[in-house]
Amino acid sequence: MITAELQTAAYLFASVLFILSLGGLSSQESAKRGVLYGMIGMALAIAFTVLGLGEGVGMDAYSYIGGAIAIASVIGIFVARKVEMTGMPQLVAILHSFVGLAAVLVGYGSYIDHMEHMTPDKMEAVAHSIHLVEVFIGVFIGMITFIGSIIAWGKLDGKIRSKPLILPARHAINGLMILACFVLGYLFCVAETMQDGMLYLYIMTAIATYIGFMMVMAIGGADMPVVVSMLNSYSGWAAAAAGFMLGNDLLIVTGALVGSSGAILSIIMCEAMNRSFISVISGGFGDAPVASGDRVVEGEVTATTHSETAALLNEASSIVIVPGYGMAVAKAQYPIYDMVQRLQKKGKKVSFAIHPVAGRLPGHMNVLLAEANVSYDIVLEMEEVNPDLPETDVVMVIGANDIVNPGALDDKSSPIYGMPVIEAWNAKQVIVMKRSMATGYAGVQNPLFFKDNTDMLYGDAKDSVDKINSELN
Ligand code: TAP
Repeated sequence: MITAELQTAAYLFASVLFILSLGGLSSQESAKRGVLYGMIGMALAIAFTVLGLGEGVGMDAYSYIGGAIAIASVIGIFVARKVEMTGMPQLVAILHSFVGLAAVLVGYGSYIDHMEHMTPDKMEAVAHSIHLVEVFIGVFIGMITFIGSIIAWGKLDGKIRSKPLILPARHAINGLMILACFVLGYLFCVAETMQDGMLYLYIMTAIATYIGFMMVMAIGGADMPVVVSMLNSYSGWAAAAAGFMLGNDLLIVTGALVGSSGAILSIIMCEAMNRSFISVISGGFGDAPVASGDRVVEGEVTATTHSETAALLNEASSIVIVPGYGMAVAKAQYPIYDMVQRLQKKGKKVSFAIHPVAGRLPGHMNVLLAEANVSYDIVLEMEEVNPDLPETDVVMVIGANDIVNPGALDDKSSPIYGMPVIEAWNAKQVIVMKRSMATGYAGVQNPLFFKDNTDMLYGDAKDSVDKINSELN
């Protein structure tokens, strides 16, 4: 229906929009614009791919595609409207799994189609071998992404335990699996019949299933942020592989953009958590410490009340708020904004300390605070705040746990050992607002709660902040 030149021009334009979209998403002020560019780019990409299907495609094909788009749009709109902010990480993980599954299906479909139209004289051609390599790599990455993302979804949703599953001799098993895939890849490329090729593809798919499963199962709760960004990267490479199989340039460019931006994000997350990138991306293959985190912390815990907390805040001149996942659960960002305004009116210096892995998504806390209109200039990074904490009067930890755990610095048996944390205990007084003494995502006890200068304010974070607000005169 349209010329190839017009389609190429539209693809080029869509690629530019995707790059602008990524640029926009790099800062909170331009994020909405970034999302809009991405949506326009994707609409163009879909429209020109469908319109460019070429001659010989009957109306039937268009009605199937139209039907699929209509059903998918309804599901997409429904899910997006229904999902809670706390459910976003799981949604992102499951969406990554779709990209992986799509690459696997495209791989199988494209291999069958290719082999059915293959004539013996073409079997020797270089293009034939290249296509087989594309199929093999595409199915391999796609399957790892598909299974890995499903396991990540389960871990983020609490359906699968977050403790790492470490098999004995895992390095040797994983090494053998990878070696087997190389051998299967060679056999697949030289297979003389489609039946033989399919057999090698099936075996490799089973091995990739195992690798994807173990890769994420072997990663402990505290390292999950890197897994989320890493699977994001894998889904990009899976899409790029599908682009090669289908000969679609836009899919290759888009996949490469997602793949490389996900990889950059993974490196940033690893640096923030003081983890080795290679060790984390290789899951069970790496040398990440196998930690139990079973150390029992003993000591006395002091509880406080809303009135005492309000009185403390009235007397303080500098206050740092450390939000965590519990703030997202309680939707406490709105009363927190209210509290900040009240305190600022009294001339107090108030700022937020954001840990790079607070919550369950990169930038989770920043999004929630922006949603509640908290001004960006008082939202600071962990490294900016830590040096000032010894001079801070009060640190309010609101629904955070792992990101303020001193065990990360001195307990070698802890699964979060080595991760930089917000050193709340250095402040003159710490108030921790949470509902109980329960552990955080990594499943380890927090010695901060037992420190002399820490008071626990039990209850739902929103409820507690509301009560404090009503007592802040
Ligand atoms: P967590 O360590 O998960 O602690 C959150 C705390 O919030 C819990 O201990 C819980 O204690 C409390 N809480 C829950 N609901 C609450 C409510 N309604 N009111 C008050 N408190 C509530 O969170 P964090 O400190 O933000 O650390 C994040 C963790 O998640 C890290 O281990 C990180 O590695 C992991 N993670 C992060 C990401 C990304 S990308 N950010 C992705 C996956 C995993 P109670 O039950 O006692 O209330």
